[in-house]
Amino acid sequence: MIRPLKLAIIGGGPSGFYLASRLLSRFPQSYADSLRVHIFDRLWAPHGLVRYGVAPDHPEVKNCTHKFDSAASDPRLKFFGNVNVASDGENALNGVPLSSLKKNYTHLVFATGCTEPNLHPLLPRDDGIIPALDIVHWYTRHPSNPSPPPLSSTNHVSIIGMGNVSLDVARMLLCPPSLLEKYDVPSHVLDALRSSKVKHVSVIGRRGPLEAAFTTKELREMMNLPDVALRPLEKSVLDVQASTRQQSRTLDLLKKGSKAAFGTTLKTWSLDFYRNPISVTVPSSNSPSYSLTLGHTVVDAATKRAGPLLDSNGAPITSVLPTSLIVPAMGFHAEPSSAAPYAQWYDLDQKHIKTLPGGRVSTTNLDTEEPKIYASGWAATGAKGVLASTMMNAYSVAEAILEDWTNLTPSLTTSNTHPVAISSSPWDAPPSEILDGLSSANITTYEDWLAVDAEEVRRASAGGKERERMDWNEAKKFLHGTAKQK
Ligand SMILES: Cc1cc2nc3c(=O)[nH]c(=O)nc-3n(C[C@H](O)[C@H](O)[C@H](O)COP(=O)(O)OP(=O)(O)OC[C@H]3O[C@@H](n4cnc5c(N)ncnc54)[C@H](O)[C@@H]3O)c2cc1C
Ligand SMILES: NC(=O)c1ccc[n+]([C@@H]2O[C@H](COP(=O)([O-])OP(=O)(O)OC[C@H]3O[C@@H](n4cnc5c(N)ncnc54)[C@H](OP(=O)(O)O)[C@@H]3O)[C@@H](O)[C@H]2O)c1
Repeated sequence: MIRPLKLAIIGGGPSGFYLASRLLSRFPQSYADSLRVHIFDRLWAPHGLVRYGVAPDHPEVKNCTHKFDSAASDPRLKFFGNVNVASDGENALNGVPLSSLKKNYTHLVFATGCTEPNLHPLLPRDDGIIPALDIVHWYTRHPSNPSPPPLSSTNHVSIIGMGNVSLDVARMLLCPPSLLEKYDVPSHVLDALRSSKVKHVSVIGRRGPLEAAFTTKELREMMNLPDVALRPLEKSVLDVQASTRQQSRTLDLLKKGSKAAFGTTLKTWSLDFYRNPISVTVPSSNSPSYSLTLGHTVVDAATKRAGPLLDSNGAPITSVLPTSLIVPAMGFHAEPSSAAPYAQWYDLDQKHIKTLPGGRVSTTNLDTEEPKIYASGWAATGAKGVLASTMMNAYSVAEAILEDWTNLTPSLTTSNTHPVAISSSPWDAPPSEILDGLSSANITTYEDWLAVDAEEVRRASAGGKERERMDWNEAKKFLHGTAKQK
């Protein structure tokens, strides 16, 4: 056997699976059996934000999982769920330390994503100040199991930030629940949406329509929501010059407004451009709502940054918005914790892993027996871009891995054996912590996931619904039951 390429991918999101799929398909056929790919995720189910992020009413986006299923059907790929990988020296609770992976693999990839929401320093978490990620986790039944947002006592929601996550959350809160019933929305979430008192959602941005981060598809969906109207924008806000196609499309949609006319619907929303939170007063016996003070802003033509709008005396202009729920939706970053397996390569300014071309985290060890280390997807790029860009990034890292392996393997034309720094026996076994976890049924495999996946779809099909999600306790019980039947 030729020098093996035994790869550990930390993170079973789209980046990890796209990378695995590419590597499996591009690996030289004649040495096919020298490749093994093990994917580890700390969640019990695979697919990262595709399962626990993508909005339920975008089912077509999740079609990428067919490709992931197909990659996982290759016997050279194994998935291990419920495995938290921690930094060297950290005793990983329910998982493995990086040092163990370093002993067992020739190549490592961090595909750990950007799992922490950016929070506004002036808007600390509170009963009524809930990051958008908590709401996303709530409606996707994420294992973190956040408290449900208090929708039955919420009339007005203020979302801070104008990205696609803001519009996903706004759409979920405003869409008639009857239209969501057929999608992958957990029953308890549908119940909460049915009894929601939300009447208006303000989507608040510190810059203008030309700088909004959302895309036109998502804006159009908001405009087309039945029985929901956009509060028409002031003419001055729309009086700006587009310089890209995306900007002109956004401006056209904003000028046209919502399908439902303002004043004719029970529910409304607004795009509050040029507003930046500067303080908040929490509810009290005198005032049942939060008071969100918003500084009015202007965008600097050269830097495109937002600055305060001043009155003729040089004082900042502000306004106060009474609101029941404040939802910061200001993007994400990779975990800065010293327990993160990539802690030593974390870039404190960029808030993700620092990489070189090809996603290489370090090139100093390329010609040694040390495992080669890479980062892929949002872990390497920051929380930017959609699945297509994550896929392209993952493919480029797969090519770099292949290139580094080829350069290190002196002759690919003759079958010869080379020493490798792999301590496991047999060479393609996962680390001992994983073998222990598998025997005690704490760790999930891709076969487990496929069984749960089919069962979730089966449980929902009678009601004409896409799927009914299980949490880990339900999945464990189900898997235990199927194991006993075998
Ligand atoms: C709310 C939301 C909705 C989105 N909707 C869309 C959409 O509709 N269409 C679209 O094209 N794009 C969408 N995106 C973007 C898309 O989800 C990303 O491009 C993509 O998920 C990034 O993939 P990734 O694998 O890098 O990260 P992730 O998907 O975050 O996967 C990272 C994985 O790493 C695991 N992990 C992290 N740390 C560890 C550790 N220490 N040990 C083990 N495992 C670990 C995590 O559990 C996770 O499963 C959305 C993003 C968000 C936030
Ligand atoms: N349907 C989809 O395709 C879909 C769905 C969800 C997510 N995604 C993708 O996932 C990525 C992340 O999306 P996202 O919406 O989380 O992030 P995003 O696109 O980066 O948007 C973040 C928003 O928060 C604002 N913001 C950031 N810091 C702020 C601060 N300190 N004060 C006030 N406002 C602040 C930003 O304003 P500024 O621009 O002024 O900084 C921006 O409007 C994006 O690439 C997105 O396209 C795609």
